[in-house]
Amino acid sequence: MLSVKNIDVAYGRAKVLHDISLELEPGRMVFIAGRNGAGKTTFLKSIAGFMKPLAGTITFLNKNITGLPPEKVALLGIRYVFQDKRVFSNLTVRENLELAAYPVKEKISTAVEKVMSIYPKMEKFLNLRAGSLSGGQRQILLIGRALVGDPKLLLIDEPTEGLAAGTINDILNVLSMMKGKVSMIIVEQNLSVVGMLGDKVYIMREGKIVQECSDKTDITDKAKLEKFL
Ligand SMILES: Nc1ncnc2c1ncn2[C@@H]1O[C@H](COP(=O)(O)OP(=O)(O)O)[C@@H](O)[C@H]1O
Ligand SMILES: [Mg+2]
Repeated sequence: MLSVKNIDVAYGRAKVLHDISLELEPGRMVFIAGRNGAGKTTFLKSIAGFMKPLAGTITFLNKNITGLPPEKVALLGIRYVFQDKRVFSNLTVRENLELAAYPVKEKISTAVEKVMSIYPKMEKFLNLRAGSLSGGQRQILLIGRALVGDPKLLLIDEPTEGLAAGTINDILNVLSMMKGKVSMIIVEQNLSVVGMLGDKVYIMREGKIVQECSDKTDITDKAKLEKFL
């Protein structure tokens, strides 16, 4: 459903992505792993339309989306959950969902149901300020918010970054509940998470894909993946 072919991407004159290719089949969960600075975020931003590739093509559902602006990419059903975990802190959880539901004309009740279907505990927090949520709950709110309007592809940037082990389990639950229902590309440095959920993993280093694994035994072999980082 998504096919990235040989893209190069730069910030000004500094080229940071070199000849990147990726294939995603419908319903699959693909991970991108790699150390800080490898270019993972830049890659997701390129798919979401925030960066324009210098070369190469990005095709989504048989449509060439290379260089389309983010709002057009979003209209095609691609949602990007940023790495910064920023919510509207002074608004309630429900209001955060309303802001996502309004532009896509989804009912707020549907948006609330979607979040509750992946994380029932959110019911208790609906009327609380989003700023009062824990890091993990905020991440779940952001993922839930991205589900509003029935996206076809979710791009999630480091969902477990900075979270305690127990909270990582909550995120794992949420992602495994969504698995198969929506296609996902997830940037993740925690190789246990990658091993538990991944259908395929791409390892990035210095702006290049240095390894691609789609064999389950390779994906679950943390030590092996680690060597490519
Ligand atoms: N806004 C920017 N301007 C210039 N260089 C950037 C910018 N954002 C990231 N970079 C550089 O691009 C490279 C890849 O960064 P990034 O995609 O954020 O990596 P990752 O997400 O894997 O940590 C790094 O060398 C980083 O310093
Ligand atoms: Mg990043």
